Amino acid sequence: MHDLFEPETTRRRALVRVFAERAERAGYGEVRPPVLEELGVFLRMGEATDVVSKEMYEFEDKDGRRVALRPELTAGVVRAFVQHHPPTPWKVWYAGTSFRRERPAAGRYRAFDQIGAEVLGVDDPDLDVEVISLAWSTIAALGLSDVRLIINSLGDQVDRQRYSESVAAYLADHRDELSEAARATAERNPLRVLDTKRPEDRAVVASAPSIAEFRSEASAAHFERVLAGLSSLGIPFGVEERLVRGLDYYRRTTFEIVADSLDAAQNAVGGGGRYDGLAEDLGGPPTDGIGFALGIDRLLLACDAEAVFPAPPTSVDVYVVDTTDGAAARNLVHQLREAGLAADRRYGGGSLKSQMKSADRSGARWAVLIGSDELSAGEVTLRNLRADGEQLRVASSDVRAALLERLHTDREDTTA
Ligand code: HAM
Repeated sequence: MHDLFEPETTRRRALVRVFAERAERAGYGEVRPPVLEELGVFLRMGEATDVVSKEMYEFEDKDGRRVALRPELTAGVVRAFVQHHPPTPWKVWYAGTSFRRERPAAGRYRAFDQIGAEVLGVDDPDLDVEVISLAWSTIAALGLSDVRLIINSLGDQVDRQRYSESVAAYLADHRDELSEAARATAERNPLRVLDTKRPEDRAVVASAPSIAEFRSEASAAHFERVLAGLSSLGIPFGVEERLVRGLDYYRRTTFEIVADSLDAAQNAVGGGGRYDGLAEDLGGPPTDGIGFALGIDRLLLACDAEAVFPAPPTSVDVYVVDTTDGAAARNLVHQLREAGLAADRRYGGGSLKSQMKSADRSGARWAVLIGSDELSAGEVTLRNLRADGEQLRVASSDVRAALLERLHTDREDTTA
C-alpha cells in the first residue's frame, strides 16, 4: 500500500474527471458503496478464486461479524442494488480503492484504485457494446494507443458449466504434462488453467476444447451481435477463446484491455463482463448485469510508458512577497483567493531574496512585492516571474484587476 502525493494526486483526480464526464454523458450516475462489507458479499466472486481464497483482508469485527475490505466494487454495487431496488436500468459509475493481499510488483499493489461502471437490468447485447465503448473511449481520451481489447463469451450458466466439465476432463487426461501449479488449479478451478502464462502448460492448453463448441444458440447470437456492434463503432478487438478472467461471476461477454507497454504479468489495464446470476446469488430477483473496472495505477503506468496524460501543473498563479510585517500579505492572499486566483505566500517573513526564492519555487507566474516603500505609497509592485521579468507598480486597490487581466493574457499566449 502506498502514500500518494502531488502531482500524482492531481493527476489521478484529472483521470477520474475524464471518466466521470464520459460516464455521465452516457447516463451513468455515481455510486459509492462502502469499503467494508460482510464477507458473504464477496464470497460470490468464487471461493475457488485467488482473490477470495488468498487475497482478501477479512476479519471478525468487535460484534463478531465476518467482514472484509472490498477486493473490487462490483459485488458491493450489486449488493446495494439488491438492498435498495432502484428502478432498472440502473446505470452507475464509481471510483475507489480496493484491497488485495497480492504479491506486490510494478502495477500490482495491495491497495489500488479503480474506475468502473455497472448496469443492472438489461439483457440487450447493444448495452455490452455501450459498456465496452465507455471503457475503450476513456482509455483513448487519455491518449493511450498501445492497447488491445480482447473479448470472449463464456456462454450462459449451463454452457459454462458443461464447458468447465469438459476442460476438467481434458486436463485430467493430460495431468502428467501439466506443471505442479496447474494441476492444483485444475482441481479447484479448471477454467483458470486456460489463461496460464507458463510455457509448459500453454502447450497442453492450446489443444483444450474450445468454448465455441459449447455456446448455446442464444449466447452465440448475443456474442455475434456484440462483435458486430463493436465493429460498427470502429472499436478494434481480438476474440480470445482462452480468456477466462479471475472472478467466477462472469457469464457470456467477458473482456480485457491490455497495455502492451507494461510487463506481461501485469498488463491488463482493465476488464469486465456480464454477471447475470450475481444479483440472484446475493438474494435479489434474477437480474442481468454487466460492467467493467479499469485500474488507475496501471493506466498511469501505461501513460508514463507512452508519455501521454502528464500530471497537470499544480503551481499557483501569484506569490505574495511581503517584507513588512506580513499583514498586507495576509489580507491580499485572502482577497486574491476570493477572486478566484491561486495565491500563496511565505510565513515567518524573511529577506526579499529568500522570499523571491520561495516565489520561484512555487511556480507562480507573478510575484506581488510589498515593501515599506510600496506600503506607504498605497501601492504594490507586480513582477512577471516568467518571460521577460516585466515589472510595474499599481495601486493596492487595483492589484486584483491588474493580475486578472495579465493572467488572462498569459493564458491566451500559452494556448495560442
Ligand atoms: P479485475 O480484472 O479483477 O476486475 O480488476 C480490474 C482491473 O483492476 C485490472 O485490470 C487491473 O488494471 C486493476 N487491478 C486489479 N488488481 C490490481 C492490483 N493488485 N494492483 C493494481 N491494479 C489492480 C474487477 O475488479 C471486476 N470488478 C471488473 C468488473 C466490473 N467486472 C464486471 N464489472
